[in-house]
Amino acid sequence: MSLDPEDWEAYRAAAHRLLDACIDRLESAADHPWQPIPADVARRYAITGAGADPATLSDRLARDVLPYGTGNTHPRFWGWVHGTGLAEGVLSEMVAATMNANLGGRDHGAVHIERAVIDWAKRALGFPAAASGVLVTGTSQATVLALQAARVRAVPDLRRTGADGLRHIVYCGAGAHNAIAKAVELLGVGRDGLRKIPESDDGMDLATLRQAIAADRDAGHAPLAVVGTAGSVDLGRFDNLAKLADIAQDEGLWLHIDAAFGAWTRLAAAPWRQLSDGIDRADSLACDFHKWMFVPYDCGLCLIADEDAHRAAFAARPAYLAAQDGGLGGGEPWFCDYGIDLSRGNRALKVWTALEGIGVDRLGAAITRCCALAARMGDAVAQAPLMALAAPVVSNLCVFTADSGLAPDAQSSLNRHIARDLQERGAAVFSTTDVGGVTCLRAAITNHRTTEKDVDEAVAAVTETRRRLL
Ligand SMILES: Cc1ncc(COP(=O)(O)O)c(C=O)c1O
Repeated sequence: MSLDPEDWEAYRAAAHRLLDACIDRLESAADHPWQPIPADVARRYAITGAGADPATLSDRLARDVLPYGTGNTHPRFWGWVHGTGLAEGVLSEMVAATMNANLGGRDHGAVHIERAVIDWAKRALGFPAAASGVLVTGTSQATVLALQAARVRAVPDLRRTGADGLRHIVYCGAGAHNAIAKAVELLGVGRDGLRKIPESDDGMDLATLRQAIAADRDAGHAPLAVVGTAGSVDLGRFDNLAKLADIAQDEGLWLHIDAAFGAWTRLAAAPWRQLSDGIDRADSLACDFHKWMFVPYDCGLCLIADEDAHRAAFAARPAYLAAQDGGLGGGEPWFCDYGIDLSRGNRALKVWTALEGIGVDRLGAAITRCCALAARMGDAVAQAPLMALAAPVVSNLCVFTADSGLAPDAQSSLNRHIARDLQERGAAVFSTTDVGGVTCLRAAITNHRTTEKDVDEAVAAVTETRRRLL
């Protein structure tokens, strides 16, 4: 009654064919921009529940599923902040699915791989050797874990009482990601406890931050944490992390850094590496491997400098999970004591495979190149008639309007139409964001496949589309 294939040879042949289809797809990534899913294909996704032999299933996966991705494997995909994937990811996902390991704990190879990945990340980001970490779905979840550790450090009995009776306050820059607001909402701090400090191209205004902390103390509130941003989602800005660390230290506050993509400027060349100077002084950090380290979705990382604070927030093992002194049930520490999830997939292997397969230097060079390409796009925009940058290009984001001569509403409408037109034609994927009351085109270059030609032709395509639409 096993669910294994009845005919392993037929399965093997079908799987080999499907693997070839996957490799073909990646090899020809430049020919496959995003495309809408035809209605008849979407209809074919309806579950019949009938079952199929491996050949039929594999053919269906290759024909009906594989072509209809987000298009973020394409060299001109710069929407939102999407990672681009790696061919090595096909290998790691194949092995991970075969092993089917649960990384909540116990003593098996995948857990040791996750430890190796976290040790590497601590070294790469300058965290202390005694820091702890856990791989999670993404920066959003890592932020919840980190701020919960901050709360439990501030109120050690919080896990028992469930309420701290305090008006905790968290400070972040005005351009901080919505993940911070979500985290404070989930943790019961509430959005009224989130202070958004004005910022400039150099990040959060530090004098205003100090004043806000003092004012909250005067009002009887309990300042809890400062959240610095290393790479803001809209503009790619970096807070002055070293100065934020000084302030957090002076004020006795937890310093968390949202470094979803910007963490990896640590692997880049000057001048971009220097953007994240000071990141090593954080109490906690949230970042992603699935964005600028290009590994397949999903994989985020939460690092906490003080392992005791980390465990104090999450460690909990009922009798059936009790530590054994050896055997499969040994292998302390268990990752379930460092986060929310008990059952955990093998996210570590795809990171390990990227680091060991591609190598840290090549990954760093790809990150440097993304920044150089964003700067190139910025120059092209600055030189193009009518176009204008919405903000300086600091890291890997270039945000601009296609026609600065129009009224704000008309610019917004034009930019939205251009973004959609380019997406639908498969020419390039820009997303949009609002800067100073104008909806702008936004390229977040976390794409190791992008070339100079892609950047130049995409800017030219914006000009051509503007002419056509106007
Ligand atoms: C700066 C920043 N923080 C947080 C997030 C949320 O990360 P995730 O989507 O991995 O949860 C993002 C996503 O783009 C981001 O850019």
